Amino acid sequence: MTKNISRVQPANSLVQHARLRRFGVAKLAVAFALFALYVAWHEAHGPGAPRTDESLITQARADDISQLAQTTPTPAAAAGASDLVKRGEYLTRAGDCAACHTVDKARPFAGGLLINTPFGTIVTPNITPDPGTGIGRWSDADFLRAMHEGIGKGGERLYPAFPYAEYTKVTDRDVLAIRAYLNTLTPIHFTPPPNTLKFPFNQRWLMVFWNMFNFDEGRFVPDSKQSAEWNRGAYLVEGLAHCAECHTPRNFTQGLKASSRFSGALQAGWHAYNITSDKNSGVGNWSDNELVSYLSTGVASGRANAAGPMANVVTNSTQYLTREDLDSIVTYLRAVPPISGGETRPRDQWGNPANDDVTALRGMTINAVNGAQLFIANCASCHSWTGQGVGASAPGAYPSLIHNSTVGASDANNLTKVILHGVNRTTKQADVLMPAFGAQLSDEQVAAITNYVTKQFGNPQSTITVDQVAKLRKWPR
Ligand code: HEC
Ligand code: HEC
Ligand code: HEC
Repeated sequence: MTKNISRVQPANSLVQHARLRRFGVAKLAVAFALFALYVAWHEAHGPGAPRTDESLITQARADDISQLAQTTPTPAAAAGASDLVKRGEYLTRAGDCAACHTVDKARPFAGGLLINTPFGTIVTPNITPDPGTGIGRWSDADFLRAMHEGIGKGGERLYPAFPYAEYTKVTDRDVLAIRAYLNTLTPIHFTPPPNTLKFPFNQRWLMVFWNMFNFDEGRFVPDSKQSAEWNRGAYLVEGLAHCAECHTPRNFTQGLKASSRFSGALQAGWHAYNITSDKNSGVGNWSDNELVSYLSTGVASGRANAAGPMANVVTNSTQYLTREDLDSIVTYLRAVPPISGGETRPRDQWGNPANDDVTALRGMTINAVNGAQLFIANCASCHSWTGQGVGASAPGAYPSLIHNSTVGASDANNLTKVILHGVNRTTKQADVLMPAFGAQLSDEQVAAITNYVTKQFGNPQSTITVDQVAKLRKWPR
């Protein structure tokens, strides 16, 4: 075909050329629109807006299986309904709906999370059963269509900041269980503020293009060559738990790069690490138990602690999963093909204890931007001046910074974010809190501590500049 074009008559060639050019312009316009929308979507998936969503479901939790029983005619039907609701509650957690739909603990699932993008703000809707402002008037078919096709009650296209690209894999039965649970929540009369997207991003029909390139509507299809456990893991990871939304890099249109699944991506300043089975770049050197422990408590002792968006995932979602489901997730992750990011050593195998900084510092005049001094003053009380931490094997302990995945990572983004924003994680084991230092330390000081910590306790090639700290600080938690 291309060969032929070069051989056509000049007159034809002009027509061809004009056509090609028109096609080129159209393609460019579509590509631009897609690109912009993807950027918006991409940003939506980091903590682009604060996700104040710790244990938000607690209040919503037991609304009221007993109440439901009272209004249900027969005891058998009541038992069936309450099983369905319990299952729905579990699945709602697996899908981490609260992460985006609960902003204020006093208004569980009433929406209002502002997802900031360069094109304006997308606001999460109220999904409580309130008939006026929530989804009380939605039929089950409407709800299924939203989850499976990304289409709202009025037929409008939903933005992919709502992860329907993954939820489409969830069975009708599970989607309806989620619906049954949502139906038992206290209806909250609350209308979140409207989206303020600029033209053309306020044009929902543009999602048709987005979907064309990046969305495959359809339920999960089990692979009969794999074990039941693998299939359950695939169903959860690729579906409700939407792990790829953060851990998979995106192509130029901001779609998930199928060839690099789970090889790590940046999300609003945070690095959602490579979790493929690669021994150096991924989690191939972790044991199954360590992965299960990380997902259920946020700690893989001597390797990693969950901070930032991952702390929220553990707090709201993975800590509630059953041992069987966690084992399945791990089985599936183990089977994800290794993808190397070029690291020569696992993130959690860097660093040595400090042995002479304290004596070297004695008698030195205090200098506001000396990393070692700042570390001693701000961090050593909990992590020890040697960096080895305190009580490191207990839940909620102050972990060692040596052999810690965030300190040994190939970039210092997460370490900087941890210093700026602290760590907040609530699990059955512990309320984990590391204070945020963003308010009392300047960008220069944060950079100095970060560079000291990576050099002394982690990967010395990971450094951060003052400008980068300033940029990371601008992202909300
Ligand atoms: C990563 C953030 C995120 C997560 C997680 C999330 N949602 Fe949403 N959801 C959104 C956004 C944003 C919208 C609005 C999209 C729009 O305006 O087009 C939305 C819209 C919806 C809608 C359409 C409501 C309406 O009024 O149009 C429903 C229903 C819904 N979500 C249910 C759920 C359920 C159930 C879960 C958990 C299984 C969930 N969402 C998890 C972000 C999220
Ligand atoms: C909202 C974004 C987000 C989602 C969704 C998410 N992660 Fe993460 N994940 C992160 C970030 C960010 C980190 C790094 C945390 C840190 O530095 O403390 C991380 C870290 C991890 C780690 C530890 C890697 C290491 O070396 O420290 C594992 C394992 C992991 N995630 C697995 C998962 C699994 C499995 C899922 C799905 C059930 C998932 N994540 C969903 C953002 C996310
Ligand atoms: C009041 C005690 C306290 C102080 C002070 C403190 N931390 Fe922490 N730090 C913690 C706790 C608690 C955790 C989280 C432990 C967990 O995840 O179970 C933590 C976690 C970390 C992590 C691991 C995060 C991850 O994602 O893996 C790093 C790195 C870290 N701190 C560095 C620092 C630095 C640098 C300073 C000084 C600027 C500092 N900490 C000051 C208590 C403290």
